[in-house]
Amino acid sequence: MDLKEQIDNNRLPKHVALIMDGNGRWAEQRGKERIFGHENGVKAVRNTLEAAGELKIPYITIYAFSTENWSRPKKEVDTLMELLVNAIRNETQKLHKNGIRLHAIGNIETLPEKCLKELKEAIDLTKNNDKLNLIVALSYSARWEIVNAVKRIVKDFEKGKKQVDSINEAFFSQYLNTSNFPDPDLLIRTSGELRISNFLLWQIAYSELYFTPVLWPDFNKEHFFQAIIDYQKRERRFGKTSDYLLNKNN
Ligand code: IPE
Ligand code: IPE
Ligand code: MG
Repeated sequence: MDLKEQIDNNRLPKHVALIMDGNGRWAEQRGKERIFGHENGVKAVRNTLEAAGELKIPYITIYAFSTENWSRPKKEVDTLMELLVNAIRNETQKLHKNGIRLHAIGNIETLPEKCLKELKEAIDLTKNNDKLNLIVALSYSARWEIVNAVKRIVKDFEKGKKQVDSINEAFFSQYLNTSNFPDPDLLIRTSGELRISNFLLWQIAYSELYFTPVLWPDFNKEHFFQAIIDYQKRERRFGKTSDYLLNKNN
């Protein structure tokens, strides 16, 4: 039976987040420059979106560039930014045609001007689409996001808009970049690294984690389906007991 047929359409994740890792190693294995890996990573994003589209998963978040990635050699950063501009330019029409709405999270104002311009145009063009939300984390880190949220909350307090007692989890979430999105149900990381690397720390409190040794440029639809099948075997207890989940009358 092919993998897609093993998926239960009634128990799909609503939001899948992906840490797209392993581009550099993929290129190095082929005796090429790291950027060759990044170039080949674009195809894996397409595969992911196609797979998510087929399953009708409404939210996909991809970690494309972290705050810490600015510390890579200038040449790699510059080429990555160029690649990003080209990818947005080449892919936007296709995203739009497929009803995909583009969003960005992160400190995007720090992106090169050209990049930011393309990004904002693509976000604007796709703003009325509703088949799938593609959230791209760019110049993103979760600690930056949380500190930024705290700063904005303090500013609102200084303006006298808020009371301390109004702070609860829902209130705090509203100050995060992800305020309009549900928390990820499933987080996938490629390349065999078993860490989070400063991604969505608040939002993944109860996400299921899935790690695969596949390097990002090799990631295809079947790998995505495999992750969904694995996810569907998990029991998400959210702190409750199994018995309680089985017998909701308890
Ligand atoms: C992920 O691949 C892409 C970005 C972080 C931009 P890497 O560039 O981290 O590739 P590896 O992990 O060094 O193989
Ligand atoms: C995480 O990958 C960031 C992105 C995928 C954009 P890294 O390759 O930067 O993470 P570390 O350095 O292995 O933790
Ligand atoms: Mg890496």
